[in-house]
Amino acid sequence: MGINLRRDNIIYPYFVVGGSNKKEKILSFPGRHRLSVDLLIKDIKELKALGINRVLLFGVPEAKDGKGSAAYKNNNIVSLAVREIKRRFPQLIVFTDVCLCAYTDHGHCGILKGRAIDNNETIKILAKIALSHAEAGADYVAPSAMAKGQVGAIKRELDRNGFRKTKIMGYSAKFASNFYGPFRNAAGSAPKFGDRKDYQLDYSDSLAALAGIGADIDEGADIVMVKPALAYLDIIKEAKLKFNRPIAAYNVSGEYAIVKYGAKQGLWNEDEMVKEITTSIKRAGADYIITYHAKDAARWLK
Ligand code: PBG
Repeated sequence: MGINLRRDNIIYPYFVVGGSNKKEKILSFPGRHRLSVDLLIKDIKELKALGINRVLLFGVPEAKDGKGSAAYKNNNIVSLAVREIKRRFPQLIVFTDVCLCAYTDHGHCGILKGRAIDNNETIKILAKIALSHAEAGADYVAPSAMAKGQVGAIKRELDRNGFRKTKIMGYSAKFASNFYGPFRNAAGSAPKFGDRKDYQLDYSDSLAALAGIGADIDEGADIVMVKPALAYLDIIKEAKLKFNRPIAAYNVSGEYAIVKYGAKQGLWNEDEMVKEITTSIKRAGADYIITYHAKDAARWLK
C-alpha cells in the first residue's frame, strides 16, 4: 500500500544536438549523453518499450550570440527534434524547455541590458521560442528563464497564433541551486559572469516560491513545477495543499549524480535509493517527476 511511482508520473529529459549519429558523453553527468535527432529517435523507441511516454527536450545549439537567436530561428534544433518525434511517435507527449541560457554567449537565461536582465525583451523572445516549438507540434512548452510574466507572455503569443491546445508547464518555483552543476555541463549553459541569484529564487524563501507558483497559475500555467525536488519537498507539499493543481518536481542533475556516484562507491543500492527518492517526491504531492533515472526505474516499476 501507500504511494507508488507509476510510469505515467515520469518525464524523461533529453539533450539534443545537430548533425547525425552523434552521441556525446557529458562531463560529470554519469550515463548521460547529448544525442543527435536520429539517435534520439532510437533512444525514444527504447523508452517507449519501457512504457514511458513523456519527454522533455533541451536543445544544445552549435552557435551562440547575444540574443540567443539559435533558439528561435527557423528549424532550430528543438523544433527539428519535435517534428521528427511527432512524425515517428505521434502519441508521445513532448515537453520543450523554453530558455536562453544554452543559446546566449553570456550564458544567462535572458536578454541583457548592461549586466542585468531586460525582462520585457526577454519575455518577448521566450514567447517567440515557445511559438516555434508549438508550431513543430510540442504538447507542452516549459519556460525556465524565471523572467516575470513569462507564462502570460507565452500564453498570449500562443493564443494569438491559434495554438490554444498547446499547454504550458511553468518552472514556477525554481531555486538558485547548487544542484544544477552537471546540467550546465550538458547544456553548456553556465553563466560567463555572475550567477543566477537575481532571477532564481533564494532557497531560504518559501513565500516567494509560493508566490511564483500562484502567479504562474494566474497567468495560465497547466502544470506548475518545483525545482530542484529533494531539498524542496516542503514547497511541493505546500503548493499542493494551497493550490491543488498538477505539480511537477524536477529531480535535477546534481540529485541524480549523488545517487549514481554513491552507488558506484558501494555506499548504497542504486535501485533502492531511486525508489525511496521518487516515492518521497510523489508522497510530497508531485504528479509528475522529471528524472534522469527514468529508464533505470522503468525496469523495476510495476
Ligand atoms: C536553466 C535550466 C537549469 C536546469 C534546467 N534548465 C538550471 C540552471 O542552469 O540554472 C537544471 C536541470 C538540472 O540540473 O537537471 N534554463
